[in-house]
Amino acid sequence: MVSITAKIVATAHSTPEKVMTNFDLEKIVDTSDEWIKSRTGISQRYVVGNDEASSDISTSVAKKLLIKSGLSADEIDVIIIGTVTPDHFTPSTAAIVQNNIKASNAWGFDLSAACSGYIYGLETGSAFIRSGLYKNVMVIGVDTMTSILDFQDRDTCVIFGDGGGGAILQGTQNNHGIIDSLLHMDGSGGKYLIVPGGGSRLPASKKSVENREHFIKQDGKTVFKHAVRGMANVSAEILSKNNLTGDDISLFIPHQANKRIIDAAAEKCGISKDKVLINIDRYGNTTAGTIAIALSEAVENKKINDGDYVLLSSFGAGFTWGSILVKWNLS
Ligand code: UT7
Repeated sequence: MVSITAKIVATAHSTPEKVMTNFDLEKIVDTSDEWIKSRTGISQRYVVGNDEASSDISTSVAKKLLIKSGLSADEIDVIIIGTVTPDHFTPSTAAIVQNNIKASNAWGFDLSAACSGYIYGLETGSAFIRSGLYKNVMVIGVDTMTSILDFQDRDTCVIFGDGGGGAILQGTQNNHGIIDSLLHMDGSGGKYLIVPGGGSRLPASKKSVENREHFIKQDGKTVFKHAVRGMANVSAEILSKNNLTGDDISLFIPHQANKRIIDAAAEKCGISKDKVLINIDRYGNTTAGTIAIALSEAVENKKINDGDYVLLSSFGAGFTWGSILVKWNLS
């Protein structure tokens, strides 16, 4: 039997127009451009304006994906949106996007895996393609983190931003595209990066709002340690599983949470600095958006050639983490 793999036939990304610099944040909380840059690598991030939400960013990504892939909306079979900041609990962001782009034959859903949302989405989409059941799968990673940020909490509000990106997956019989993946989850880490309120555990109430429990809370130091270890280990694991070393990788696209995490993870798994894509300086941490935006930028800037091995790795709340190995081929 001929085996099918999923290849990425189009990528796109989108952000809100409004930029918030570190200097803007200096006016809101007790922080400094110098601290943010040296501790995280971030200089600025994009933030939504009034009345803008994750489905708006996703719709913009989806429209670009249709143009770039040459597909019509009714050829899309499935829409998967990785996000922890959906417009609503229900309907799903995927349903809103389906309606916005008039993808009349698509079904789909939102996928909640925080910073691993795009990696988990690619794995899910790839499995759908490999099953032979679907031809065109749209995967989007998006977050409007400012909707859950506490601008009185300098531990979190300086690191996140809004934005998203995505890809169209199609099947190929040429053994390229997404050739391997390793996904992990460890729920014992859940308490270290959490939005405590607003769900069924602590439904919205006057008290929950007064206690600021609808905002994201993070134990930064603990997450930092797990992120370095998790991202380095899973990247090294997928390389050795495929008999590759860091030298074989043309481009490493890690989740953009902190430049120090990226540097440490890349060093630990033997990938030289010039092969590591870093754009956190301009976007901050867009959660499910980071890898999708970075991959789209890399394609746009012609940083990937046919035959290249590209490694995508994430770590985030849950804890969730994983790697996807792509043998690039657009033809
Ligand atoms: O994407 C999801 C996964 N998330 C992550 O991977 C994030 C992981 N964590 C981190 O990236 C880092 O832990 C942070 C960037 C969140 C914090 O950096 P850190 O180097 O761990 O800082 P810290 O919490 O140890 O704080 C060091 C100092 C403290 O002051 P003292 O106690 O040394 O006087 C903080 O109060 O920096 C202070 N500080 C700040 N100063 C200015 C903490 N936040 C700020 C701030 N501006 N925004």
